[in-house]
This record gives sequence, structure tokens and C-alpha cells, in this order.
Amino acid sequence: MSTPAPGGFDPPPYPYDRLAEISAVAATHVGGAVDLSVGTPGDPPPSIVVEAMANPGPAQGYPPSAGTVAMRTAFAEWSSRRLGAGLDPETEVAACIGTKEFVAGVPHWLRLRDPGRDTVLYPEVSYPTYAMGATLAGCRAVAVPMRPDWSIDLEAIDPGDAERAVCLWLNTPANPSGGLDDLVAAAAWGRKRGVPVLSDECYVEFTWDGPPRTILHAGCEGVLAVHSLSKRSNFAGARVGAYAGDADLVGYLRKVRQHAGFMVPGPVQAAAVAAWGDDAHVDAQRDRYVRRLERLAGILATVGIEAPLPRGAFYLWAEAPDGDAWGTARMLAERLGVVVSPGEFYGPASTGWFRVAAVATDERLDLVASRAGL
Ligand SMILES: Cc1ncc(COP(=O)(O)O)c(C=O)c1O
Repeated sequence: MSTPAPGGFDPPPYPYDRLAEISAVAATHVGGAVDLSVGTPGDPPPSIVVEAMANPGPAQGYPPSAGTVAMRTAFAEWSSRRLGAGLDPETEVAACIGTKEFVAGVPHWLRLRDPGRDTVLYPEVSYPTYAMGATLAGCRAVAVPMRPDWSIDLEAIDPGDAERAVCLWLNTPANPSGGLDDLVAAAAWGRKRGVPVLSDECYVEFTWDGPPRTILHAGCEGVLAVHSLSKRSNFAGARVGAYAGDADLVGYLRKVRQHAGFMVPGPVQAAAVAAWGDDAHVDAQRDRYVRRLERLAGILATVGIEAPLPRGAFYLWAEAPDGDAWGTARMLAERLGVVVSPGEFYGPASTGWFRVAAVATDERLDLVASRAGL
């Protein structure tokens, strides 16, 4: 029964599961493999957040699917304070269980709302869940070309695809490339064509080049900003994020998601209030990532690889020698005992590249540096 019916969906292997063999090579080093493949934070969440989760008050009832008033208010206050973007927590903000489920699910719900549209537009070098969300909704996944600076090229979108689009995804700062988009221009593009523009901003506070960008700077009409505490607060294990923007879209998605039973657990919502209420831990984390990115670039230089520092996010995105990303991943496992991600995980346009996540702790990076002779 595990074989799908003819024409049925056969889930591909999960990208990171394909790294088992390379991980085994890295693990032969004394001290074991240092995993720089998945973008999962290696540092702990702040203690105020963990304490709030442990003492959430009465948590026996079902939590509100849209998020508690306290959580939505903490998010709106954070958005105003850190991004300069005002939001009404009553109508323009809602919770998600981390953002991956939202990214994977939203094309399906938008298509239910407008069955005449069947296409998801997304950056051609990007987090793979944008394309997977299209597939899971029975939509066409149409990759949008990127410019050499890794920003999306809106002019390259075929008008026929735009007419059919349930949404356009953007990701600023971008995983894996660190690219930054002109989000105000993207909002205008979507409004002109009636296409919701969904802006995944989970790395927004790790913007290195200029101030943080949010699509909400263009106003809320026709757009959603998608945010996560996974990266901001090293809280990936708790699963909590939020989406915010156009009140009609937020209202519709809140209703659908309530019917489907999407709820962030109550104690996690209490912790989210503490996380969005505090900035000191994020500033400390920013410093850590900058130091680690520089350090990793220095480590790669010892094996002859030049990796530019990104404009945002916490990944190095580098061209593989001879365009052989899998070979480079294997070489790095053999020589440095690290596991990195071949570029094809982020789309067929980036097979000659690879990604290094600066997520390992400083102690693990000490080990890699010593293997590199530094
Ligand atoms: C661009 C991007 N969006 C969304 C996510 C999902 O994060 P989470 O589900 O933990 O909020 C990730 C995780 O790596 C990501 O890189």
C-alpha cells in the first residue's frame, strides 16, 4: 500500500536525509561530525522565554487558534518597535505553529478561496517548502528568476503566470543566499495584479546590510509578512510564529486554520509573549552570527574556497569548485568533519553552489578551526 496510485503524489526524500552518507564520513573525525547543514539554532533560547513556558498560568483548555490577545499584542509591539511597522493585533495578526507548516499549507487555502487560480510563484533559489506547498495544493510551482545579487526579478514573471497566481513568495533576507529584495516594489507588483504577496521574513533581525526590511513598510493591503521565533529566539523546538498584514487575508486564514485545528500550545504562546517582548537576546545572537560567519569564511579559505559574507541571514552561500557541490560537501566532510548542504536542495538553478549554516556553537567551531590548522 506504500506505492501511490498512478499519477498520485510520491513524496520525494527529505533533502537533509540525503546527507546520511556524508554525515557518516564527517563522523569519523575525533569529536564527531559538526553539522552545518540544517538551519536549526545550536544556541539555547533565552531563560526568560523558557521560564514563561514553564509557568504559563492555566493551560488546561484549548488555546486560541489565532493566538492569545497577549501574544498578538506582543507581536504587534515588536513589529512597531523593531521594524517600524504598525499593526492592529485584533485584525491584522495571527499565530502559526512555526512558519514551515504555514508556508506548506497556505497555497492550498488560498486556492480554496479562489479556485480559478492554480500557480505559486517563488524565488528560483530558495527554501524548498515554497515549491512543496504548491505541490501539496495541487498547484503549479513556478520559479521566478533571480538577479546576480540574489534578489527576485519581478520583471521576469510571465504575465500569464501572474494571472494564475494564488501568491508570490519572497524571502528577505533569503535562505540560502542572504539576498535582500525590494519589498515595497513587490507589494506594488502584487496589488497591480491582484496577487497576494507573502513575505517570509524569519531572518529579518539578522539583516547585516542596512536596516531590517518588511513588506509591511508598504502598508498591509494585499500582503502578509511571515515571522518566526525559531531563529530570532533560538526557539525552533517550541514551534511558534506569526503572520500579519491584510485584514481580509488574515481573517480568512484564521477561520480556515481554526476549522482545521491549528493551535500553538498555550505554554508556547505564553513563552512567545516573553520572546517578542525582549530584544537584548537577539542583539547578542546577532553578534554571535556575525562572528561565526566571518570565522567560517576563514575556515573555508584554508581549503581554497572563497565564501562572500551574506547581506542577511546566517548562511554562507558559496560556489563549489568545478561546480561540483556534492563533491565539495564530501571533501569538507573528509577534511574538516563538517556537513554542509549541496545547492540543489534550494532548486535546480543552484546545483553548483553549497550552503554552510553558522548554527554550530563556538565550541564546535573551535573543533573545526583546529581541524583546519587555525
Ligand atoms: C526561509 C525559511 N522560512 C521558514 C522556515 C521555517 O522555520 P520555522 O518553521 O521553524 O518557523 C525556515 C527554516 O529554516 C526558513 O529558512
